[in-house]
Amino acid sequence: MDHLAPVFAQFPIEVVSAEGVWLTTRDGRRILDLYGGHAVAALGYGHPGWLAALERQARSVLFQSNAVPMDVRTRAARRLVEFSALPLPTVFFVNTGAEANENALKLACRITGRDQVVAVEGSFHGRTAAAGAVTWGAAAKWYGFPRTPFDVQFLPRRDASALAGGITSRTAAVIVEPVQGVGGAFDMGREYLEALRRRCDETGAFLIFDEVQCGMGRTGHPFAANLYGVMPDMITAAKALGAGFPVGALLCGPRAAQALKPDVLGTTFGGGPLACAVIEAVIEAIESEGLLENVRRISKRIRETCMVGPVTGSQGEGFLLGLRLSRPASEVQPALLERGILAGTSADPGVLRLLPPFTLGESHADLLCDALADIGA
Ligand SMILES: Cc1ncc(COP(=O)(O)O)c(C=O)c1O
Repeated sequence: MDHLAPVFAQFPIEVVSAEGVWLTTRDGRRILDLYGGHAVAALGYGHPGWLAALERQARSVLFQSNAVPMDVRTRAARRLVEFSALPLPTVFFVNTGAEANENALKLACRITGRDQVVAVEGSFHGRTAAAGAVTWGAAAKWYGFPRTPFDVQFLPRRDASALAGGITSRTAAVIVEPVQGVGGAFDMGREYLEALRRRCDETGAFLIFDEVQCGMGRTGHPFAANLYGVMPDMITAAKALGAGFPVGALLCGPRAAQALKPDVLGTTFGGGPLACAVIEAVIEAIESEGLLENVRRISKRIRETCMVGPVTGSQGEGFLLGLRLSRPASEVQPALLERGILAGTSADPGVLRLLPPFTLGESHADLLCDALADIGA
């Protein structure tokens, strides 16, 4: 018996080391990682730039809080805003995706003075009080708090006809993953996101893109907002932002940023120098190694060539890729693991979810195709 809280379903492998896109298990197996630790390991494992940045910063100043100005923090915020190329120029660094969402929702409620938030069916936004409140199915499964911090209305995915009735002058914010992760690599599409933008403009509600899973290059674009050409008022990011170092960020446009005065938001660890040094290294690697282009290219190859075995179709964007299956993903996922490939499932039982490192190459994609063909229909 170990002393860890028994709250996680676990894969039947123990990882002892990793290099590039490969994991090595205690019993000496090499496993191709197409899951990346819930979409975190964007640069794979042992990336020299990531390691060097962390070590350099740790030897220089390993921590100072936000009470102390630090150049590395200023640089990380600038780099993130420049990378995004979006009109969201104010950054609040936090530690996790849930914390970023919590702060985004708080700002929207505070600025509008309204008490209702709209979310989309199938969503996952995190486990904390506000983020859990807008997570689809949380109330029935694990929410635990006696009440939510605001009223919540869930709307059906991709159904623009539901927006007029659902988003009203009571709505403080609409929070949406432009490409749902846990929901099954389900992309909302440009038209639906544009309709959300329009309805938020009509009602004065904030539009929040939760890009914790789909952002930071995972779609083959800096953010899904770039891909779809739809501008939210706030974006939340985490996961690939630190590519293994825990960090989150809230990117704010001017309407959200107007409320940012001393003490309105706060954090001890958010914006710590190690996290900020890593953010710079991650963006540097994505840009200098052409990883956005690589994500688009290899994603296309998988979609084109992996329509074999149990795969009947594909959905999602870039490396938030869903393979639609003729039989349950809960059967195909272990069959792939037996063949040395780690992939994920999702809330959609018919979808295998791939979240590989952005460094994945053609030969790796081909290994996936071979394994799927071997599994058979
Ligand atoms: C879209 C999305 N938002 C928020 C979260 C919560 O992030 P964290 O676990 O870092 O709090 C997740 C985690 O899977 C996520 O996929």
